[in-house]
Amino acid sequence: EKGGYDYFMLKEIAEQPKAVADTLLGRIDPSGSLTLDEVRISPSELREIDKVVIVACGTAFHAGLIAKYAIEHWTRIPCEVELASEFRYRDPILDGRSLVIAISQSGETMDTLMALRHAREQGSKVLAICNTNGSTIPRESDAVLYTHAGPEVAVASTKAFLTQLVACYLVALYLGQVRGTKWGDEIQAVIKDLSRISEEVERVLDTMEPVRALARTLATKSTVLFLGRHVGYPVALEGALKLKELAYMHAEGFAAGELKHGPIALIEEDVPVVVVVPSPRGRSVLHDKIVSNIQEIRARGARTIVIAEEGDEAVVPYADHLIRIPATPTLLQPLVATVPLQVFACELATARGNEVDQPRNLAKSVTVE
Ligand code: M6R
Repeated sequence: EKGGYDYFMLKEIAEQPKAVADTLLGRIDPSGSLTLDEVRISPSELREIDKVVIVACGTAFHAGLIAKYAIEHWTRIPCEVELASEFRYRDPILDGRSLVIAISQSGETMDTLMALRHAREQGSKVLAICNTNGSTIPRESDAVLYTHAGPEVAVASTKAFLTQLVACYLVALYLGQVRGTKWGDEIQAVIKDLSRISEEVERVLDTMEPVRALARTLATKSTVLFLGRHVGYPVALEGALKLKELAYMHAEGFAAGELKHGPIALIEEDVPVVVVVPSPRGRSVLHDKIVSNIQEIRARGARTIVIAEEGDEAVVPYADHLIRIPATPTLLQPLVATVPLQVFACELATARGNEVDQPRNLAKSVTVE
């Protein structure tokens, strides 16, 4: 049932183009407008929303962090993202005009479930983004947008994450559509790019051999750092989480702008640093900043592993290893930038002799606090 792959994780990584396409299926009509039939919160209720709060754990939380950039940019509704375990014990300020989005692959994560119960008690509407039909979280929510990733068996979340991102983008675009915010050429272009993204994920998968080879050379390292900016920052966090849970290595993700506020002290000779580079097109200031971050860490001896768009030549002189990803709009880049990090962590785990599908101490769904 692993379909010829050594591990479920490898199979699930390979299934991502289909999972992404399935999650989009039937939700974008040919005219480019969105129909999210399952979102049973009426357009008039959605027009009243004055705040979005996303709650989730682990990888699903990283999807939420990325969603914030999209929601605020496309809809101008303030959006907070919080770990479900923190949210529940914080006495958060919520009311009937707050939309709470609970993201969970399994639909059974206890902290996320408790967070949504708390939100409903405050009178907020709860929308679940979930991969498991009929599980507890969607059952207890006002509405659900299912991700169609298919069953995810490996403990490390891969295809569920990409489809959570797609679902988040759909919700953000739908909110924009219903509320008439920023509903113009930019959004239409994004919808077009989103419809094509599954092919781009496929292209990334076709070029992963050098990433595997690189991972094998790092098997004896004790630490790997990850840097990103904007949506690349949660991608860095996700890359680090994958490495921790699979390779049992010390790994940390940072916002590149924070380097000078502490983390740069960690840079020493030959420490591998993975940098997620935003597109040089569009908001090029982000790109230029990160290029100077790469220069800074390399000058201090870091071994730079740079994930950058095809055609981005500015990074070439500073990249000890260059991983190319297809050009996408900035906000959608996590869909292609995360894939090499999944492959990287999986290969490192294998090289270190770890059990890929069942990492030590972890369970697929965390139904206890
Ligand atoms: O089922 P959920 O999406 O609610 O699970 C949340 C986390 O436990 C999960 O994403 C975990 O972090 C993964 N093992 C990460 O790969």
